[in-house]
Amino acid sequence: MNIIFLGAPGAGKGTQAELIAKKYNIPTISTGNIIREALKSGTEMGFKAKAFIEAGQLVPDEVVIGIIKERLAKGDCENGFILDGFPRTIPQAKALDVMGVRIDKVVDIEVPDENIKARMTGRRVCGTCGASYHLEFKKPAQNGICDSCGAELIQRKDDAPETVADRLSVYHKQTEPLKKYYEEHGKLEIVDGLGDVAEITAHIEKALED
Ligand code: AP5
Repeated sequence: MNIIFLGAPGAGKGTQAELIAKKYNIPTISTGNIIREALKSGTEMGFKAKAFIEAGQLVPDEVVIGIIKERLAKGDCENGFILDGFPRTIPQAKALDVMGVRIDKVVDIEVPDENIKARMTGRRVCGTCGASYHLEFKKPAQNGICDSCGAELIQRKDDAPETVADRLSVYHKQTEPLKKYYEEHGKLEIVDGLGDVAEITAHIEKALED
């Protein structure tokens, strides 16, 4: 199954994508993770994206469309995939159509802005393996240390409260119109993103099976 996860920054797309990808045995493709990796390894693309990410702005369409084209051409996408964080603009969605990529379902995880702020500012990530935690909702076994690899947990620069506000405003302006786009294509499934992680996973599974 070819799936898109839509939703505001911090709506839980990454958390849910990982769980659903395991169930269907398909890869998760997160443009955010790919860009952060490029930043860490100091590639030219990472260098170009840095200022946009840190300011809470979107990276230019042509850069992310190039990333997706390259990633979807890999063999592990043959039996399906989850796109987490792509598309984020109408031109990005249209680029997928032009590439001839079939999309089966678009899952929109809905979380009100006031809950988003608490999720984002409490998020901590592993600087080495990228695993994600939360100070209140998903604590690591040992404070400040990654359960998976033992490295130190850090706060993403773009999770600072003032940047979160900018990211939310970019979301409402540039990404939210995709809901209408995919509704018109008969693909949209809206899922309540408030509550327990397992409860939300169950709602998503049901939406995918309908
Ligand atoms: P990206 O990394 O995609 O950021 P995002 O969409 O803003 O998503 P996040 O990773 O912040 O959140 P999420 O929805 O995955 O939530 P999570 O599961 O972590 O992109 C970063 C930047 O890259 C963008 O700002 C942009 O600059 C650039 N970029 C990326 N893609 C692009 C594109 N296509 N075009 C242009 N630019 C692009 O959950 C958040 C927190 O909440 C975690 O701590 C988690 O533990 C907690 N949590 C999750 N679920 C629950 C729950 N049910 N209850 C309580 N807490 C929960």
